[in-house]
This record gives sequence, C-alpha cells and structure tokens, in this order.
Amino acid sequence: LEKLVVIGFMAAGKSTLARNSAERLGWSLADADVVLQERLGEPVSEFFDREGEPAFRARERDVVLELLGTSGPAVIALGGGAVEIDDVRAALADHLVIHVDVDVDTAWARAARSKTNRPLARDRELFEALYKRRLPLYESLSRAVIAGGKEADGASEAALALARPGVPRTARMLWSRAGKGHPVYVGAGVLGAAGALWPGQGRCFVVADEHALALHGEQLLASLSAATAVAGTITIPPGEHHKSLAEAERVLRALARAGMQRSDTLVALGGGVVGDLAGFCAATYQRGVPVVQVPTTVVAQVDSAYGGKTGVDLPEAKNYVGAFHQPAGVLTDPTVLATLPTEELHAGYAEVVKTALIAGAGLWDGVLALPPLERAVEEDLAGLTSVIEDCARTKLAVVAADERDTGIRASLNLGHTLAHALESATGYGRFRHGEAVALGLLAALRISEREVSLDEGVRERVRDLIVANGLPVTFDGPPTDELLDHMGRDKKRRGARRNLVLLRAPGDVAIGVEAPDDVLVSAIDELRA
Ligand SMILES: NC(=O)c1ccc[n+]([C@@H]2O[C@H](COP(=O)([O-])OP(=O)(O)OC[C@H]3O[C@@H](n4cnc5c(N)ncnc54)[C@H](O)[C@@H]3O)[C@@H](O)[C@H]2O)c1
Repeated sequence: LEKLVVIGFMAAGKSTLARNSAERLGWSLADADVVLQERLGEPVSEFFDREGEPAFRARERDVVLELLGTSGPAVIALGGGAVEIDDVRAALADHLVIHVDVDVDTAWARAARSKTNRPLARDRELFEALYKRRLPLYESLSRAVIAGGKEADGASEAALALARPGVPRTARMLWSRAGKGHPVYVGAGVLGAAGALWPGQGRCFVVADEHALALHGEQLLASLSAATAVAGTITIPPGEHHKSLAEAERVLRALARAGMQRSDTLVALGGGVVGDLAGFCAATYQRGVPVVQVPTTVVAQVDSAYGGKTGVDLPEAKNYVGAFHQPAGVLTDPTVLATLPTEELHAGYAEVVKTALIAGAGLWDGVLALPPLERAVEEDLAGLTSVIEDCARTKLAVVAADERDTGIRASLNLGHTLAHALESATGYGRFRHGEAVALGLLAALRISEREVSLDEGVRERVRDLIVANGLPVTFDGPPTDELLDHMGRDKKRRGARRNLVLLRAPGDVAIGVEAPDDVLVSAIDELRA
C-alpha cells in the first residue's frame, strides 16, 4: 500500500485531514484540486464556467490518475466530484481510501462561508441532489469513515492498520471523535485480526465473559498474542447480577495481583455486562487505564460498547455507580453472533430497532430489509454487518454531540422510560431488558402519534419487526400506577416533570416532550394482554 486517499463531499475537511495526516505520517502530500488549478493556470471556477463540467472532469481525471500512479507513500486529497469519474473509481481499488463524512447542512454552511468559489455550491437544491448522489459512492469506495475536525488526529494511522496482513478486505473503520478519539473496527474477521488492528498499548489483560471466552477466546488470544503480551485473563460468570461492586473489586484485585500497570491495556470480551464492568474497572484501576472493547452480543455491538458509559449496579438501582471512560478502541466482529442463543439475539434486536428509529433514512431501510436476526446471522451477514455498522455510527454521532449526557444523548433513551419501569417494578426478574425495550418502544410510538403526530404506519412496522424477532408486543404485569411510580424514580428524569423521548418520524427524535400522565396510562394499558 502506498497511498492514503482522502475523499468526501465539498467542504468536508478533506484538505485539513490530508495535511495533518501527511505531517503525522511523514508522507508527502498532494491535494488534487491544488495541482489541478496549477495545471489549468486559472481558478477552477473560471475553467469550469467557461468549458463546462465534462471538460473539467477530463482534466481532473488525468491529474488524479497521475497522482495515484506516482511511486512512494503519499496522502492524496481528491476533489468532491472525482469519485464520479469511472477511471478514478477503478484506480482507487488499489489504495486505502478514507471518507471524511459531513452532513449536508454543515457542508452547505461551510461552502457558503468559505472564500473558494465553488461552481457546484451556488444553488442549494443542486447541492443537496449532488450530495445524495455522491454519498453512496464515498461509502462504497472507502474503508474508513471519519467525521472531520481536529479530533480526527490519529485517525489516519488507525485507518492504515486496515492494510496490514491478516486484516480482511471487508473490515472497516469508524473514527469516534469522543474523548481523544479512537477507532472502531467493524467487520467479519475483525476478531481474528485483533492483533493486526490492536489499538491498545503495553501488555493486555483480558476480562472475559465465561461463554464468550469459551467460544471465541482462543481466536482472540491467539491474534492478540501476535501483537502484545497477554498477561492475564479474568473470567466473569454470565448474568447481570455479576455487574456488581463485589465483582468489580474481584477484578481490580486480580489485576493488581497480576501486576497490571497504567501503561497496559484492559480488553473486555463479552456482552454489555462485561463491557460495563470491565470498562468501570479500567476507568478506576490506578485512576484509569485504557480499555479495548470486544463486544460479543447484539446489544454490545450495536450499543453498549460505544460511548464510554461504564458502571455497575447497586442492589438499590441499576447502573448507579459508574464513570465516563471512552475506550481506546472497539473491535466489532458480527460473526461471533452466530453462537449467541436465540433469546439473546432477540433481546438485542430491540436496541437495533430503537437505533434505526433514531437514525431514520438508510439504517431504518436497512432494518426493514433485514431478515429476522437468527436468519440474518446465517444468511445475510453482509446486511447484518451494515446494520451493525450504521447503529455504531448513529450512537457515535449522538455521543460525539453530547458525551456527558446532558442533552441530545437523551434521544438514545427512546422507549426506555417504560422499559426501566417494567424492569424495576418486577425486580429485574421478569422481563429481559430487550423485551422491556420492545414494549417501551411501542408505548413511546403510540404516545408520539398523539403528541407529535407520528405516522401510525411506523408503529405498525415496528410491531411486525418485533413480532418477527421473537419479542413481546403485549404484557401482563405490574399495575400501571406502580409503573408510573417507578418512572418517577428514573435517575434520568429532571425535576418534577415527566419528560418523554418521542419520535416525530424515523430520524426525527423529540426530546424533553412533556406529556400528561393520562396519555402515558392509556398507552401502557393498550399493551396489556
Ligand atoms: N454502557 C452502555 O451504554 C450500555 C448500553 C446498553 C446496555 N448496557 C448494559 O448492557 C447489559 C446487557 O448486555 P447484554 O445484553 O450484552 O447481556 P450480557 O452481557 O449479559 O450477555 C448475555 C448472555 O450472552 C452470553 N454471551 C455473550 N456473548 C456470547 C456469544 N458470542 N456467544 C454465546 N453467548 C454469548 C453471555 O454469557 C450472557 O449469558 C446491561 O447490564 C445493560 O445495562 C450498557
């Protein structure tokens, strides 16, 4: 591999990322637009306006192919439209391509502010149509996706790991901007490439769910051993009741006895229980050591492994002790889901639907097109992988906007107000979390229809998806009064008002909507069997 090629829409921040990357890597830098302008001998906009787009693309094609064809390592930034040239797309297959992602509103605002005269940024409608047409090209050509900005430092080095021997072609990297920034590698075979992709430092200490270790530990440990010394493995028995202070103490003491230092890295292998517990141990051991999350359940791969929330439960309440601690990296391999018991696939599905409702657009369509999870893991790994990746991207984007959970991150609680009440009112013994979330989503969508005009069709689709994935759509259980009491004790509730997270449409979450209790009551009662 010789070239790192940076692509993306106008004003995404490609040039900045390319310049910083070249500097950090000590590679040479070429900005195709700058070279092109030199060759044209006049501003791009003047040539474009006089000669027209086809003539411009022909000149652009020659410059880009020449830059890609020169020898020696280099970082090359392409113009936003270069990917529409067939020969350029073909040539990119030989290089590692990074997509600098930007949303269309930000791109438009930046293009309007900048001094560069961009011929294709003069008309908003045309601009948006162009964005829509090009986005799938950027996505299909790239193996790494980065949201631009200063926090992208380190992203290019992390992306280059994708080109190492042993890393499957299908593996992709998402760059999380939370904290200092870190890579999330997603794809079939990522577990077996953990050593090649290793985002940790020093030796590693593995904290592993018992089942996950028995089924996937050998592959992970063998791969890690190639990159670093595996200095200890601590096993956590399965079950939410092990997400406790007592278990955290056991892990912390085992780490101390094994001589873990701050220069070492903890690896969390397992579902959300181990991810939260090991993450908490990493946040607190010697005031914080890096943790690499290796999620092995649907819940963990679409949700809990990202975002840096770690913690344990108290007998009094779930997740009451914890810390924000961003991982040093996440390794998400959907093939490990093949060994997950059906009911755990089902449980995770509720979070998939929730995330798709929050994201809307492509992810919502992807989820509608995905077969039920137990079939998807066997028959449609590509579709499943893409849904998992999009869920991760959705969560990372929300977290990047609100790391400490003081605003927009509340959108991730869609359906969770009733879910938590159902779980706590029944002492966490009756409903699996996913089952409670499925019911909570249906209630939240029903209330959304009344309060924020959600189209009824959405709830019907969600209901079908939930049924197809083995989750309940009705319940009989604690009286509604009791559930309301438990909602009052939700730690995320602010002041005395009952704030709900509702949905106006897939992709359009309404947070902090105050709904009268009787609307809540009737939505809950409708779900009674
Ligand atoms: N930190 C966050 O942001 C966040 C978000 C959502 C949920 N959570 C937490 O996640 C926890 C739930 O996580 P979960 O649903 O992953 O459950 P879990 O971790 O308990 O795992 C479920 C079961 O699957 C088994 N298992 C794990 N991987 C396997 C594999 N590949 N093959 C076979 N069996 C496997 C485990 O042994 C366990 O029995 C809760 O404690 C919840 O609070 C945290």
